[in-house]
Amino acid sequence: MQTFTVRHCGPIRATIAIPGDKSMSHRSAMFASLAEGRSTITGFLESEDCLSTVNAMRALGARIEHAGTGTLVVEGKGGQFTPPANDVDCGNSGTTMRLLSGILAAQPFSSRLTGDASLSKRPMGRVIKPLTEMGAIFISEGGEGKPPLVVKGGKLTPLHYEMPVASAQVKSAILLAGLSAEGKTSVVEPAACRDHTERMLQEFGISLDLEEADSNGRRRIALTGPQKLKARDFTVPGDISSAAFWLVAASAKAGSDVTMSGVGLNPTRTGVISVLQRMGAKITVSPFDPKAAEPLGSIRVVGSGLHGTVIEGAEIPNVIDELPVLAIAGALAQGTTIIRDAKELRVKETDRIAAVAGNLRAMGANVTETEDGMVIEGGLPLHGAHLQCFHDHRIAMAFAIAGLFAEGETVIEKIECVATSYPTFGSTLESVLDA
Ligand code: S3P
Repeated sequence: MQTFTVRHCGPIRATIAIPGDKSMSHRSAMFASLAEGRSTITGFLESEDCLSTVNAMRALGARIEHAGTGTLVVEGKGGQFTPPANDVDCGNSGTTMRLLSGILAAQPFSSRLTGDASLSKRPMGRVIKPLTEMGAIFISEGGEGKPPLVVKGGKLTPLHYEMPVASAQVKSAILLAGLSAEGKTSVVEPAACRDHTERMLQEFGISLDLEEADSNGRRRIALTGPQKLKARDFTVPGDISSAAFWLVAASAKAGSDVTMSGVGLNPTRTGVISVLQRMGAKITVSPFDPKAAEPLGSIRVVGSGLHGTVIEGAEIPNVIDELPVLAIAGALAQGTTIIRDAKELRVKETDRIAAVAGNLRAMGANVTETEDGMVIEGGLPLHGAHLQCFHDHRIAMAFAIAGLFAEGETVIEKIECVATSYPTFGSTLESVLDA
C-alpha cells in the first residue's frame, strides 16, 4: 500500500510542469481513432484513466503507437471499428465509459464495458437513456444503469435532448452518437459545462451548430449527421485541474511564488482561478494565444492568504473537479465558505461531499455537510491525521495539500489511485518541498 506522508511546510517557491489535460487526452485518443488517417497527439496525459481509453480504442481496432512520452501516433478507423475480442475494461474512468458508449451506440456490433469497483457503482443511466432513444440497446448488468454495460449498437436516429444535469460526458456521448445518425442531433445543457468535445470535434473537421447561451446559461449544441472526422495533429495543454492543487497551496501560504506554464485556459475550466481570486488570491494569467482551439498560457500565484466565499449555481460545472481542493482552501481561509448546488459530487469516484467533510473534520476543521455541498467555517488550526482517500485521486491529492498546513503528520493511505489523473503528483510534491 502506498501512502502520502505530509508535514507542515514553509513557502512554496517553484516552477511546476503540469501534465496534460485528462479530458482532452481522452478525447484526442478517441477522436483520432474515429478519424480517417493518421494523427499525432502530443502532450498526452499518460495516466491510468487515459491509458484505459487508449486500450479501449486499440481493442476496437485502432492502431495507436507510443512515440515517446506523451506522444501518440494514431491510425484512425474512419468511423468503422472492429468488434472487440474481449470485454472493454474502462478501469476507473467514467469519461472512457460514457464517451465510448456514445461511439459504440453507432457501431453494428455488441460490446461489453466493464470497470473497477468504483466505476461499477457510478450512474450510466444518464447516457443509456438518450442513447437508447437514438436506437442503441443497452443492458446494465449491474442493475439500475450501473456497469458492466452491454452495448448493442446499430443504425441511429437523431435526437433533441435537454440534459437534466450539466454533464460534459453526457453531452459528448450524444454528439458522438449523433455523428452517425442521419439528420440533426441537438443537446441543451442547463449550464455551461466543459466544451472540449465541441472544440476538438471542430478541429477534427466536424461542422457544429453552436448557439449562444441564453440569459439562464442554457445553451444548445447541434450537429447534422452523418459526418466523418478527419485526422489531424493535436497538442494537449496542461491540466488546470492538476494545477489547482498548487494554486490553492501557494495562494494560502504566505511568501509562496509558483509559476506554471502551458496550462489549459479554456473558459469552461478556469472557474478555480476566479473562485480563488474572489477569495483574495493573487493570481496572474498570461495567455499564449487566446484564439487557439484550446487556449493555454502561464499562471503565476503569489501567497496572499484567503477569505471565505460562496460557490454555487452556474459556476459549479466549471469547478466540479476542483471542489475538493477548493474546500481545503475554504478551511484555510478566514470566514465562511459555502459550497452548494454540487450534488453531482456525490456520484464522482467516491461521494466527494462526505469524503471531504469527514477528512476535514478529522483534521480539526469545522465543516457541516449539506445534501448538495458543505459549509466550512475557515481559519481553525488544522492538525495531522490518518486519512482515507476512498480510492479517489482528487481526495488523495487535496488532502496532501491540506497536510502542508497542518500541525504534525498527515498520512493519506492507499494513494495508488492518484495515477488515474496525475501520476507525477507525488514526485512533484517532493521536489516542491525540497526546493
Ligand atoms: C469530464 C466531465 C466531468 C468531470 C470529469 C471529466 C469530461 O464529469 O467531472 O472529471 O472529461 O467530460 P461530468 O460530465 O459527469 O460532469
